[in-house]
Amino acid sequence: MTATFSWPSHSLVSSSSSAAHSQLAHIGVFDSGVGGISVLKQLVAHLPHENFDFFGDSANAPYGTRPPEQVLHLSEVIVRHFLDMGVKAIVIACNTATSAAAHDLRAQYPDLPILGIEPAVKPAVEHARRVGGDVVVMATQLTLAETKFARLLERVQGSVPVHKVPAPQLVELVEAGKMDAPETERYLRSLLAPYLASMSSLVLGCTHYPFVKPVLRRIVGPSVQIIDGSDGVARELDRQLQARHLAAPATQTGVVRFANSAPGDTQIKLSDRLFHMDLGR
Ligand code: DGL
Repeated sequence: MTATFSWPSHSLVSSSSSAAHSQLAHIGVFDSGVGGISVLKQLVAHLPHENFDFFGDSANAPYGTRPPEQVLHLSEVIVRHFLDMGVKAIVIACNTATSAAAHDLRAQYPDLPILGIEPAVKPAVEHARRVGGDVVVMATQLTLAETKFARLLERVQGSVPVHKVPAPQLVELVEAGKMDAPETERYLRSLLAPYLASMSSLVLGCTHYPFVKPVLRRIVGPSVQIIDGSDGVARELDRQLQARHLAAPATQTGVVRFANSAPGDTQIKLSDRLFHMDLGR
């Protein structure tokens, strides 16, 4: 079931501390905007008994062009909201916020499961090693510039060529609901043209990007692997909930609720549309 609600900063929902760690408590999922719904879809598919509260910070999107300190501050505000609501776990459904804030947030809340997402470079490199060709990683400027990404490359790249391709306009196109618009396709064609001949794997390193996967598939053709990290996040959340005895009972049917910092209901309606969108293969 899908319900919607708004989350104005002046009306926080509080809950008793005993609920905070119960199996029935909700899981908070957030992103700079509506992109994290691509992760939420995987979470719900893997864990249908859980209740999820999704928060999109569309009023402050994009995060990917902000300094890391600002992204950390915005993430801290959202996490405090979620804690006031009594969530039992938090998923940072944003590669950019994971790079800039996951480490500090985990240090601040050591008892709370806080999961993040990072570009799926490892499986992409493994695929390129098997079939030949290059890896292209599309992500925000901030994600690609962070030391976290440099370390990830150092660990997994080996001799496989990996191209870093920031796609700053893409977040705004998805936030505007233009997933399949001609301007989106034009933008992506020009961005990817230099790599089309050699690419065997395309990593979607920003959670907004899976929503343009049908367009990307048309551009790169059927044989290129298009991959994102959301499946790994869902499996890790499952593992952590089980290990901490926090998993919802199998008799429960989970609910999903959407909130957004943007005024009006445009982003809430877009959230619902994206949540039900078929992302193809
Ligand atoms: N969806 C986000 C990510 O995964 C961030 C996009 C942005 O706000 O720049 O990186």
